[in-house]
Amino acid sequence: MNRLKKLGIGVLCGLMSCSQQLPQQDFESLEEISFNDNWKFSKGELKNGMALDLNDEGWKQLDLPHDWAIEGPIDKAYNARCGGLPFHGEAWYRKDFNVPSKMEGQKVFVHFEGVMNNAEVFVNGQKIGERPYGYIGFELDMTSYLKFGEENTIAVKCAPEDLSSRWYPGAGIYRDVWIEYKNPIHIAFDGTFIKTPVVSEKAAGVEIDIDLVNASTKNSLITIETNIYNKAGQKVGDVVSKDKINASTEHTFSQKVTLSNPELWSMENPHLYTAVTVLKSGDEVLDKYKSTFGVRTIEFSAKKGFLLNGERIQLQGVCLHHDQGPLGTAVNKRAKERQLQIMKNMGVNAIRTSHNPPAKVLLELCDEMGLVVIDEAFDNWRIGKVENGYNKDWDKWSETDLRALIRRDRNHPSIIMWSIGNEILEQGRKDGWKETRRLAKITKSEDTSRPVTAGFNYHPASIVNKLAHEIDIVGFNYFPMRYEKILEEYPEWVVYGSETSSCTSSRGYYERPVAPTFKKGVNQVTSYDLVGPPWAYPPDLEFDMLAKSPRILGEFMWTGFDYLGEPTPYGGKDNSTNGYWNGDWPSHSSYFGAADLCGFPKDRYYLYQSQWTDKPMVHVLPHWNWEGHEGEVIPVHAFTNAEEVELFVNGKSMGKKVKGVDLTPIKMTHRDWKQEGPLMSKYRLSWDVPYTPGSIEVVAYTKGKEVARKAIKTAGKPHHIELEADRSLIASDGKDLSYVTVKVVDEKGNFCATASNMIQFEINGDGKLAGVGNGDAASLTSLQGNKMELFNGLALAIIQGAKNPETPITLTAKAEGLQEANIKISFQPSL
Ligand code: GAL
Repeated sequence: MNRLKKLGIGVLCGLMSCSQQLPQQDFESLEEISFNDNWKFSKGELKNGMALDLNDEGWKQLDLPHDWAIEGPIDKAYNARCGGLPFHGEAWYRKDFNVPSKMEGQKVFVHFEGVMNNAEVFVNGQKIGERPYGYIGFELDMTSYLKFGEENTIAVKCAPEDLSSRWYPGAGIYRDVWIEYKNPIHIAFDGTFIKTPVVSEKAAGVEIDIDLVNASTKNSLITIETNIYNKAGQKVGDVVSKDKINASTEHTFSQKVTLSNPELWSMENPHLYTAVTVLKSGDEVLDKYKSTFGVRTIEFSAKKGFLLNGERIQLQGVCLHHDQGPLGTAVNKRAKERQLQIMKNMGVNAIRTSHNPPAKVLLELCDEMGLVVIDEAFDNWRIGKVENGYNKDWDKWSETDLRALIRRDRNHPSIIMWSIGNEILEQGRKDGWKETRRLAKITKSEDTSRPVTAGFNYHPASIVNKLAHEIDIVGFNYFPMRYEKILEEYPEWVVYGSETSSCTSSRGYYERPVAPTFKKGVNQVTSYDLVGPPWAYPPDLEFDMLAKSPRILGEFMWTGFDYLGEPTPYGGKDNSTNGYWNGDWPSHSSYFGAADLCGFPKDRYYLYQSQWTDKPMVHVLPHWNWEGHEGEVIPVHAFTNAEEVELFVNGKSMGKKVKGVDLTPIKMTHRDWKQEGPLMSKYRLSWDVPYTPGSIEVVAYTKGKEVARKAIKTAGKPHHIELEADRSLIASDGKDLSYVTVKVVDEKGNFCATASNMIQFEINGDGKLAGVGNGDAASLTSLQGNKMELFNGLALAIIQGAKNPETPITLTAKAEGLQEANIKISFQPSL
């Protein structure tokens, strides 16, 4: 893009003089219209999928976003590393649409937020563009291919390749699509950059860079008017400028506004401002553009760590992949919001979007919820990690994709760092620093207000080969034992744990001893959280190392949620199937999450919660249903953020344990662990209890006073089903979701922690089952069907309301030999 920098003279407006309510329509973009509805879809190769005379009548009708692969089947014919789902191969989407004749003379663009992947786009039979990287959005100009006042056809070919991802990537047009009508004189795609370089309690200097395009044949004098509104919709600043833009040119115009007494964006009060920029020629409005931003300062210092608005914040982060469990990857706002809420409840304040640009809505939610984000661009550079990875497109696309990421995301106050890569293999090369330098330079040329980072897992190679020297903030994956040493050698470096722990577990599944030797064929991992791949270590070790090195910014544990694919420690390579990870089939989704694929917390979730939150809590494990093991010793573990915990077995005290004093041996160590004997945890309290049926209960005390308690009872035979919805009232927009937890209890209502009954679902009313799941990484039951077996007592049904609904939804859950249950989900009146 040919952009000339030009500085405009801003007309400042004080808070008092121009405070007024924003009319609602001012927030609405004039020209961006959803293009999601009424597409047709066909899986399979087609030579002429774009042809105008192609008969697509038999194709499947659907609305976007869409992930074709989540429909399954989950099958050994596909790579377990990618979820055992059919994500590769060719598929086509087509849509007929009218462009009103009154739009003639306007520019018409189509904006895809993400297509997985190798997308090629055709309008009326002609190719208008392509984009190989599935995680990045792109805009294409359709104008010269369109017939105004007539029907047009857009066709999109996707062609994800086999062996092209280390996890489940999803497949298809899985993010929103928009059609945009613009005057030839307009603000470019992702064309504003709002910076707040000077912030004090009294005032914030806001700089707005606006990328202007004149695609007409006339030079033009334009007025650029930007109004800034606070969260309540009151106007708190404005600026009006004049500019000349010559025919067929583009340039950046800058405006400045001072906001008096700005409300800062923080984790507790994530205040957002909205800037509405209007381009005018005389009285004619040419373009209107809305940008959301926040006023906040970020600082990273070798001495003080990460400072948000001057205050030190320890990063309590999780790495998150982009799927939404049973819903696959088709982006849904409520699904993302729920994931973030579950993470926040664990004490999370930071997200690393591993290892790719996330959906736009994820960042919007982080802005709204006060979570900070490391926005990550790539999982590999020129050297690939899989046979058909993005490395094939590296030379042609990496700069374009990296710039696109930063330009899309630069106004989000939540983003605190740009990550140019995860565990890139160039670490092992002497000239690895060169590519690091190139990418850091590109990043800086787009944004100097945030540091550049990367996650390194080769130590000391990433330092010896000087990759670490080329970035601002150094992320280390899985090297907590070396933090101190690295800081000694490089006292000026700012360092954090970009990936930590990688402990694995299956929710509600326990084996004894607590750290068993790995067994093939079980396909489950004990939840005492002491099992993982060779580079893994218990969360406790990271907590210890961070406490020892307060200069480290914090950590991003692997991972907040289980995700589809990468079933480590199961999933050995199966040589008979061309490099697939099907050696431990049916394991096909991850065991790394603190929450399972459905979002049900595992025990580890509470270990982090006990370290990351202050609201009194106590958690106890395992379950108390050990029929046939009466008299055998069961290790009971408790996590708390209180001072001490007392365990009661059938009402009898087993004694109090003091956190930090009574230690628990945790056998799983780390490759760097040099100390004699097992690692001892200050974060787990434990008792060895001979099993007798009844109950276990933990009571937590601080300063001698009870602050929290939790009990688990031995359950009798499964008797009836219970349903609990996270929300019984949902929006009428056809997208909103209600997550219904399905569990089985005994006659007295005690949770049956080992139940595995098959549950059949029925839906009545204006809605559908959008997905079902149970969190079992080895279950072969479809995530898109109408039945699911309980996994250790739990399953999930995700209900989606219809558009413009009339009748509330009733979900009925049945199982052989059990009393059925139903639950009603109603609709909010539409606005
Ligand atoms: C890391 C990698 C992650 C994931 C993790 C599993 O090395 O960056 O993507 O594979 O290991 O432990």
